[in-house]
Amino acid sequence: MAVQKWQDFIKKELISEEELQARIKEMGAEITRDFAGKDLLVISILRGGVMITADLIRHIDLPLAVEFMAVASYEQGMRQSDGDVRITLDLRTPIKGRHVLIVEDIIDSGHTLNSVMDLLQTRNPASITICALLDKYERREVDVDIRYTGFKIENEFVFGYGLDIDEYYRNLPFIGTVDLDKYEAPS
Ligand code: IMP
Ligand code: MG
Repeated sequence: MAVQKWQDFIKKELISEEELQARIKEMGAEITRDFAGKDLLVISILRGGVMITADLIRHIDLPLAVEFMAVASYEQGMRQSDGDVRITLDLRTPIKGRHVLIVEDIIDSGHTLNSVMDLLQTRNPASITICALLDKYERREVDVDIRYTGFKIENEFVFGYGLDIDEYYRNLPFIGTVDLDKYEAPS
């Protein structure tokens, strides 16, 4: 299969590795203060949330547990999600009475996180708080209450640091924007 290198279609580096790491360190310190003394359960939303989760929890100086959840929004490539969301991997443990921190890569329309919140609320956690690395606020269709935001970004498709294009490029340590004239889907 032919897959392009990121150098072939990047428009610009939007957020550098250093900027990401500095901000995530700050977010970790904030979360450490806010959740002190609470039973903290971090829920990482696969697959995009993996990078920020791994870096963020190293800056949370509290006892905590980590769980993973996967959600499919019937999106492909750069098409937008339409609110039709389904859980493809559920939690292994009950969350009743626990303080849940959801960690997500990006909030775009808001449909994905909104559905996840609705589902988790029915399981009676003590609280649910959202942490998102990126907030593409101009695109919001449903309200999502984000407590910890890494960066607000404009309406442009981004990749790297957990975020994919056609499932590739999640491994890059920075976040870039795409030159749509140069990007070709894997064939
Ligand atoms: P929402 O349901 O529209 O908020 O979409 C959230 C999901 O869409 C994220 O978890 C990402 O998987 C994906 N997504 C939205 N914008 C981007 C982007 O710019 N790059 C990569 N994935 C994105
Ligand atoms: Mg995706």
